[in-house]
Amino acid sequence: MRQSRASRWLLRALKLSLGLLVLVTAAGCHTDMWIQPKTVPLEESTFYADKSSARPLVPGTVARGHLEEDTPFFTGRDDNGQLVTAIPVKFNSDKEFKEFLLRGQERFNIYCTPCHGRLGDGQGMISKRGLALRRPPANYHTDRLRNMPIGHFYDVMTKGYGVMFSYASRVEPQDRWAIAAYIRALQLSQHADSADYTAAQRASRQSTGSLGTETQ
Ligand code: HEC
Repeated sequence: MRQSRASRWLLRALKLSLGLLVLVTAAGCHTDMWIQPKTVPLEESTFYADKSSARPLVPGTVARGHLEEDTPFFTGRDDNGQLVTAIPVKFNSDKEFKEFLLRGQERFNIYCTPCHGRLGDGQGMISKRGLALRRPPANYHTDRLRNMPIGHFYDVMTKGYGVMFSYASRVEPQDRWAIAAYIRALQLSQHADSADYTAAQRASRQSTGSLGTETQ
């Protein structure tokens, strides 16, 4: 009886010291990582002359994928600072251009239709449901916008326009041009002239009669 009591005490003492040992070793694990020369963000530094631990970027540093040169492709403007009248992208085939337009259609439908509508007439869901904007989303089928150089559409997406915010952080330059090209296609779709059709196209339309009389 006495012996077993003593051994119980011994066991308890053993457990306790084992627990203490685990605690001490675990706590000691990271002190050498903790205590080392380093600076925490925004901490003052005595090492650099400007006393700032945050170092400036090396001049000319460009974040990966963000190299923007002073060319019409990135600025939408020519050497004289005028908005470009043609898309500054080269196409090697009609197929390539068609893919570019389809990409523009897809991007337009994602980013622009909520306000401008699928037709670009300014009747997107947001307008229809009465979003209170100081000015309504533009209708692209006005004489002013039809006559705008294509660079204007790139410019609006890049910098924003009036109450519309910029899309530069969401839409890459190449896609901005694709959207601009698609806007031109939309404008044409609502303002086609019979002279724009080839004789063969006119003949096929007359035979189906699907489009009715032409308006100018
Ligand atoms: C959240 C709503 C909204 C979205 C989304 C939006 N816009 Fe707009 N946009 C507007 C509004 C509002 C105006 C009118 C701004 C003004 O006149 O102050 C406008 C105007 C315009 C104009 C006319 C500029 C002019 O010269 O009058 C163009 C072009 C345009 N947007 C293109 C786009 C394109 C391209 C996209 C998609 C990448 C887009 N917008 C997405 C709200 C939007």
